[in-house]
This record gives sequence, C-alpha cells and structure tokens, in this order.
Amino acid sequence: MLYSKHLVLPFLKLQSLHFLVGARVLVTGASSGIGEQMAYHYARFGAQIVITARREKVLQQVTEKCLSLGAQKALFISGDMSTESDPDKVVDFALEKLGGLDYLVLNHIGVTRFAVWDGDVDHVKWLMKVNGAL
Ligand SMILES: NC(=O)c1ccc[n+]([C@@H]2O[C@H](COP(=O)([O-])OP(=O)(O)OC[C@H]3O[C@@H](n4cnc5c(N)ncnc54)[C@H](OP(=O)(O)O)[C@@H]3O)[C@@H](O)[C@H]2O)c1
Repeated sequence: MLYSKHLVLPFLKLQSLHFLVGARVLVTGASSGIGEQMAYHYARFGAQIVITARREKVLQQVTEKCLSLGAQKALFISGDMSTESDPDKVVDFALEKLGGLDYLVLNHIGVTRFAVWDGDVDHVKWLMKVNGAL
C-alpha cells in the first residue's frame, strides 16, 4: 500500500513527540501570540504547564484552554519580568507546583519600536531588564 508523504510524515512527527506527555514546562509571555500558541501545543501533547505574563485574566483563560486541549496540569502565575522579585517568584512557583522543570520556554519580551534611538536611557534599561530576566 502506498502512503503519501504528506500523510505519513506528520504522523511520524506526532509519534516522536510522545516524550512530551507529562513533561514539566514553564512558558513565559504566554498570555498572547507565540507563547500562547506554544502553551497550546504542549497542552495537546499532555504536558504539565505553568504559564506566566502580566495579565492575570488572560492567563486564566489560556490555562482553561490548555486543560481543555489535554494538558495533564495547567497553572498560571502573573508576574512582571521587569521587576527584581517576579522572575524568581515565577520559577519557584513552577518548581513547587510541578516538582521540577523539563523545559523552560523564554518567550516574554519588552517591546520597542523600530526607530532611530531617541536617547531614552530608562526605556533601554527597562528593556534589558525584561528581556534578560531568567
Ligand atoms: N511575532 C513575530 O513575528 C516574531 C518574530 C521573531 C521573534 N519573535 C519573538 O517571539 C516572542 C513573542 O513574540 P509575540 O509576537 O508572540 O509577542 P506578543 O504577542 O507581544 O507577546 C509577548 C508576551 O510577553 C509578555 N510580556 C511582555 N512584557 C512582559 C513583562 N514585562 N513581564 C512579563 N511578561 C511580559 C506579554 O504578556 P503581558 O502583556 O500579559 O505581560 C505577552 O504574553 C518575542 O520574544 C519576539 O521577539 C516574534
């Protein structure tokens, strides 16, 4: 019997990702965009997920969707990566709730505009803090 490579390859890829079942994952910047979608992908494979970002209400919705997609566990903790204490708080929460971490997906970002630098040193300091957290 002949199989189209378009049918077989995705099947093989899915099979080879079975190691994600139960994997303990922390995804930052998971309230929207790429981070949110990555959380859903881990959820579909049955991972145990902690997600974080600043907007608590959105995180709650993403967590609920993760559970409906098949996550073994899905929890959220809000945090601002530009602060001194929140990065540690987030990691400690994930370690405690999941009993360790197998994957750390660092995806959060402080946004900046594409333009000639206007001399705003405080903004650059803030960016370095946010994007260098963890
Ligand atoms: N989209 C693209 O085309 C593209 C291309 C190449 C690379 N990337 C990279 O992929 C990553 C995600 O991009 P995206 O397009 O998905 O961005 P996005 O939709 O703006 O998501 C950014 C995420 O980071 C969180 N975040 C921002 N500031 C934060 C802070 N101070 N503390 C904690 N969380 C914070 C946001 O949540 P809250 O607002 O709730 O905190 C949000 O969940 C970025 O690192 C980006 O550079 C994106």
